[in-house]
Amino acid sequence: MKSKDIKDLALIIFGASGDLTYRKLIPAVFDLYKQKSLPANFAVLGVARTSFTDDSFREKMKEGIRQFATAKDALDGELNEFCQKLHYLSINTEKEGDYAKVKERLDKLDKEADTGGNYIFYLSTPPSLYPLIPKYLASQGLNRQGNSFRRIIIEKPFGTDLKSAIELNSSLLENYEEDQIYRIDHYMGKETVQNLLVTRFANGIYEPLWNRNYIDHIEITAAESIGVENRGGYYDNSGALRDMVQNHLLQIVGLVAMEPPMSIDSVSIRNEKLKVFQALRPLSGEDVFKNVIRGQYTAANIKGKYAKGYREEKGVAPESRTETYLAMKLFIDNWRWGGVPFYVRTGKRLPTRVSEIVIHFKPAPQRLFPESVNLSDDNQLIIRVQPDEGILLKTNMKVPGSGFQTNTVNMDFHYSQLKDAYYLPEAYERLLLDCMTGDSTLYVRGDALEATWKFVQPLLDFWKDNPDAPLHGYPAGSWGPNVADDLIEGKDRHWRYPCKNLSDDGIYCEL
Ligand code: BG6
Repeated sequence: MKSKDIKDLALIIFGASGDLTYRKLIPAVFDLYKQKSLPANFAVLGVARTSFTDDSFREKMKEGIRQFATAKDALDGELNEFCQKLHYLSINTEKEGDYAKVKERLDKLDKEADTGGNYIFYLSTPPSLYPLIPKYLASQGLNRQGNSFRRIIIEKPFGTDLKSAIELNSSLLENYEEDQIYRIDHYMGKETVQNLLVTRFANGIYEPLWNRNYIDHIEITAAESIGVENRGGYYDNSGALRDMVQNHLLQIVGLVAMEPPMSIDSVSIRNEKLKVFQALRPLSGEDVFKNVIRGQYTAANIKGKYAKGYREEKGVAPESRTETYLAMKLFIDNWRWGGVPFYVRTGKRLPTRVSEIVIHFKPAPQRLFPESVNLSDDNQLIIRVQPDEGILLKTNMKVPGSGFQTNTVNMDFHYSQLKDAYYLPEAYERLLLDCMTGDSTLYVRGDALEATWKFVQPLLDFWKDNPDAPLHGYPAGSWGPNVADDLIEGKDRHWRYPCKNLSDDGIYCEL
């Protein structure tokens, strides 16, 4: 990955002793270093309450790189050289007075590492600190841009409902301009998600068909085989709607449904995505009943091994009514999409990990080949976000021989076919580099964030006001509650089950 105009800079990570820094951020920065994408003068300052020295922080980060970086097999010499760029400062992040130490340390780093006063502050802390840290940094003048830039990256959850999201946005805007704020959604960093833009807007053949006249319905799935692991405490207050739908899945809806942008820049793309979110048909209480299915996984045996139910997970309330599965039907009320249902689902403890977008085209107007046993009425374009990133078109063909029997075949492209020719960056690598170059295209703008919260808020209200609203149990390892099948109306229409014939090693296997 080559960087465009990238200035020397320091990346300051708040929450540096946490899991995200260890598993994702520092490994991604190391991979950028290996790709020679970092600026010539670069430093990381880890900040957290935990006490580390520069050396002990470096040792810990080395372990993380060895486990999680793409270049985990790098030579010791390279790793050591990289780690010299890592520094650490322990402060009480809740105490305004301690931010003088951050300023002092950054001044020193600027001199030692020649980072030019350009700073990216990465907030990977508990969300309760999101309003505080930017404010305390501003009290030291660290928000002010002159010849140098000051940017803030904020991890999700960005608010827990519409009100808190608006409050957080306004508190940030007191000290920062919108173009200094980078709200990260790691799904936007995935290659195949970005490839949606290219598939749609660099090919003449799809766009004329990409509307209500030719598309019957669209499915978007993000399935996970893991449960809540060690994040029960967080997840139990969040649930699938906040954890996956409000952000990752709606962002994908935005890219699938947006109008062609004027150009590939952050203003044009983000304007078009915003219009999609504004056109989402609001869900009233009755719609929530009809169009949204919630589920929670229960204990089961998966391949002979006991798998816990959600309520047995650490940090989860024994009577919890938090959803670990959500399926919904939504509509976008504009000219392009009027009447086309979008079916969106996500869940933990499903049979496999797979995220994909399925565009179901309308059938041919006339069935000319009555002998066809296997004719699939709708052509499908399947964009596989992960794993096995790629794109597949299901099309009908004639079975060789007499008569006109037909069968459905796949035109299938796998990104792995390019692996010798291209380097496939991880989502955090791509997004960090974009922030370094000042490109916010793949980050979420404040107005879009509020528009997505506005869409999900009636669901949160409905469940709060109707605590007995259905929450369906589904056995761990299954495809979620059976009632979710009824969401998809119409003869022969159903969810795609990308791993119906799940092989023992859990590989993506539907043809
Ligand atoms: C995170 C959610 O944002 O995304 C997790 O908090 C979820 O619960 C994860 O597991 C999924 O990300 P990915 O990249 O593994 O699909």
